Amino acid sequence: MEAAESALIEAVEVSAGYDNRRERTRLIALRDISLTVRRGEFLAIVGPSGCGKTTLINMIAGFVQPLSGTIKVRGMGVDGPGSDRAMVFQDYALLPWRTVERNVEFAVENRRGRVPKQDRERRIAEALALVGLAGFERSFPHELSGGMRQRVGIARALVGEPEILLMDEPFGAVDAMTREAMQAELEKIIAKTGQTVLFITHSIDEAITLGDRIVVISNRPGTIQEIIEVNLPRPRFDERNDVRRSARFGEIRAHLWGLLSGEALGAKSISGGPA
Ligand SMILES: Nc1ncnc2c1ncn2[C@@H]1O[C@H](COP(=O)(O)OP(=O)(O)OP(=O)(O)O)[C@@H](O)[C@H]1O
Ligand SMILES: [Mg+2]
Repeated sequence: MEAAESALIEAVEVSAGYDNRRERTRLIALRDISLTVRRGEFLAIVGPSGCGKTTLINMIAGFVQPLSGTIKVRGMGVDGPGSDRAMVFQDYALLPWRTVERNVEFAVENRRGRVPKQDRERRIAEALALVGLAGFERSFPHELSGGMRQRVGIARALVGEPEILLMDEPFGAVDAMTREAMQAELEKIIAKTGQTVLFITHSIDEAITLGDRIVVISNRPGTIQEIIEVNLPRPRFDERNDVRRSARFGEIRAHLWGLLSGEALGAKSISGGPA
């Protein structure tokens, strides 16, 4: 079956939640999520704050177990983290006492099938060059700007050459200009590596600019409200052909805005309203 062959990640009727032992209550974060992600696909994920986006990628990363349903990667059930999947956290999660290069090394130093030291140094240098941080190897996180710290987080995810990149609002904390530059850079990187990306964002424009498809999750308990095929040509960052001025872009934007500003959802956390 063709569809099954190209499915890299498959979630079937997944529900997730958190138990509060003290109060003996259970909060259901996600309900009946079924989703197939193709190899090499860029999947953007949007939805109101608290709808379960982070929970979803934490389950794919193997940090959180579903309450019911199954998540498979390459046909195998996920039962914990693995070097085939790397996460870029919204809050950087850098080790303040380590330099930039030692923060990046963190991702490859304790792996099974250890990467030899020499190979490791080369890969760290390559990953830092890729995110534009060559020359900052010996700096400490507190000496960097927010955008630079986030790039360290991205280099750390890239250094292990994972097949799947899980990115949780990775550009949420950087200024608009830097954000655009980083989006363009990310598009270039994955065009080279062919990685599969799950990318959470609160920006409608960012989701359309980067995504092959956009998954819209409803208010908690999160369910998949809609999956939108973006169908815009790549590269999306092309001075001669700015996709953001295209009719298709405007159409998706208006549609998403309608979905996310619906009363049932509450649009407080959504940026990029209608122009
Ligand atoms: N470790 C946890 N323990 C208990 N409840 C949690 C935990 N993590 C998340 N939750 C709850 O699960 C729900 C979904 O949270 P999640 O972080 O997945 O949302 P989100 O869509 O990523 O939100 P945001 O856009 O604000 O980051 C929320 O109600 C949250 O309070
Ligand atoms: Mg989140």
